[in-house]
This record gives sequence, structure tokens and C-alpha cells, in this order.
Amino acid sequence: MSKKIFSGVQPTGNLHLGNYLGAIKNFVDLNNDNSNECIFCVVDLHAITVKQNAKELRSNIQETIATFIASGIDPKKSIIFNQSQVPAHAEGAWILSCVARMGWLNRMTQFKEKAGKDKEKASVGLYSYPVLMAADILLYDATHVPVGDDQKQHLELCRDIAQKFNSDFEIENFLQVPEPLIQKEFSRIMSLKDGSRKMSKSELSDLSRINLTDDKDLIINKIKKAKTDPLPMPNTTKDLDERLEAKNLLGIYASLTNSTLEKSVEIFAGKNFSEFKEKLSEVLVDKIQPISLEIKKLLDDKLYLDNTLLEGVERANKIASKKIKRIKEIVGF
Ligand code: TYM
Repeated sequence: MSKKIFSGVQPTGNLHLGNYLGAIKNFVDLNNDNSNECIFCVVDLHAITVKQNAKELRSNIQETIATFIASGIDPKKSIIFNQSQVPAHAEGAWILSCVARMGWLNRMTQFKEKAGKDKEKASVGLYSYPVLMAADILLYDATHVPVGDDQKQHLELCRDIAQKFNSDFEIENFLQVPEPLIQKEFSRIMSLKDGSRKMSKSELSDLSRINLTDDKDLIINKIKKAKTDPLPMPNTTKDLDERLEAKNLLGIYASLTNSTLEKSVEIFAGKNFSEFKEKLSEVLVDKIQPISLEIKKLLDDKLYLDNTLLEGVERANKIASKKIKRIKEIVGF
């Protein structure tokens, strides 16, 4: 069956290995399957839910586009664009925010994490952020949404919003209820410094993550410094339950080599971490270095990136403006 794929990534600083293994690697596979129609969005409206520097934001948008292309997404085949340039996203978000319920949003764990203790000072946008995400997806009738595990709850909310809209306005199947595409394994890559925390752009220490722009020496150094434990490498996957850092590093190895956790555990059973880390660095450098070099090359060709964006915006706008027109009619405007 042909799938309509939609997903988004925030342009907030360097994209990292978590973004790559949890989402972008999957985008590339979906893009390569000719039966799919894929749309990949740089969600700059989401980015401003926390304070941004305008100049940095502009350059991060370009870097995210460059990362998509450098990772293997073909902009001629898939639509690549930035959200702020297609007005239907903001309009759709408003209409859907009148469909979504406060009780639903109050349950969102990511808001609680991001707002922290002082949620009174968080922006209203940060709170209603999942509604904008629902608009993104629903405007394109997406059937499948590839994301990392941390976005699962937002997708459930999107499904609830679609169903409520269809039922409130008595228009069956008008908004497509999308399916999440979350990998069974490796859908949550953890920090290199703490196996209980997600790898994230917002963690202060750069040593906690591998950025897709890191060079060979930096990758080797970060893996050398990655937290482990004093025991030798585990003999079975069962041993990993209490050994979060070992589990994460082995998961990264397995994901990069398109293998399983079981097989990776088997290869390194009983060995020293130093030996494993050497191999892990090798596969990381093999995968990340070509991407990082290509990102740098693309960033030198701003004209190409601008034109690619313009083309993507035009293609996305065609689809989204039709859908928002119908949404407005249904609502009674
Ligand atoms: P964002 O920008 O935080 O992350 C982009 C994608 O990377 C995944 N990801 C991870 N996967 C595994 N391990 C990690 N440590 C890790 N960190 C990030 C995320 O799950 C995501 O798939 N709200 C979204 C962006 C968005 C969106 C959308 C996604 C806006 N509209 C519509 C899908 C559809 C976000 O902030 O992702």
C-alpha cells in the first residue's frame, strides 16, 4: 500500500545521533521506497516556543535542510520545506486548538519536562505545541508518521484531535487518522553521559551527544569519554537491564550496523569496553563522517539550499492550502 509520510524536525542547533537513528535514518528508507509520498518539514514555528536568536534560527533552518539532504533524502522526490512559509500550519493550529481539550494537553509529559519547575513562565506556545504538530500532520492527510519514541504521546493526541474533528463536524474520515512509525528497537537513544536520560540538544555538555556535524577526532574522543561501568562487556541481553550505558552503546552499534542487540552482545561478550569502543567509533565515523562532510559542502552552496526550500514550500503549499480551505468551509467560515 502506498503510504503518505509526514514528519518534522526542529531547527534548534545541531542535529544529533538520536535524531538520526530515531528519525532521519527512517526518513531516508521511506524516501527510497518509490511507493511512498514523503514530506519532511523543518518545524521553525515549533522552534520559537522557546527563545531563539533570529540569526541563529535562520542558519539552523539551513543546516537542518542540509542535514536532511546530506543524510540521503532526495529533495526532488520528497518534499522538504519549512513550516513558517506555509500559512496553513498556523491557521490549522488555531482551528484545531478549539477542538483539542485542555485535559488532553495537561497530560503531555514533554511539556512538563520542558517547562520544568517554573511552568508559569513557559510560553503558551510550548503548551499548545502538540496542537501545531497535529495541524502539520493532518493538513497533508498523512497516513504514517515516523518519529522517535519521545513523540508517541503527541501522535496519540493528534489521532484524538482528528477523530474529534470528524465527529464534531459529522464528516467521516475527513481528517486522516495517522499511524505512528516508531522503530521497535533503538527508538530512544540515550545520553553518552547518563544512560537514563535521552540524548538531547538541550543537555549542556556536548560530550553527551554525537552531533551529525562532528568530525572524526571529536567522535572518537566522545566515545572514549562515554560513561560505562567497571564490568566487562555483558554476556546476555538480560545483563543489560541494570547496565543502561552498556545497553545504549550496544544499541547504537546494533542500529548503525543494521543488526540486533542480541547479535551485538554476542560479538563483544566478555571483552573490555575499550575494545568495543574502538569498534563503535569505527562504525560511527564510517556513518557520520560522510554526512558531516556533505553538510559542510551543502552549507557552502546557500543558493542551492534556498532554491530547494523555495521549491519545497511551493509543493507543500499546494497541498496544505487546499486542505485548510476545506477545513474553513466545514467549520463555517
Ligand atoms: P525533535 O526536533 O525534538 O526531534 C526530531 C526527531 O528526532 C527524534 N529524536 C530521538 N529519537 C531517538 N532518540 C533520541 N534521543 C531522540 N531525540 C529526538 C524525535 O522523536 C523526532 O522524531 N515535535 C517534534 C517535531 C514535529 C513533528 C511534527 C514530528 C513537529 N511537527 C509532525 C512529526 C510530525 C520534535 O520536536 O522533534
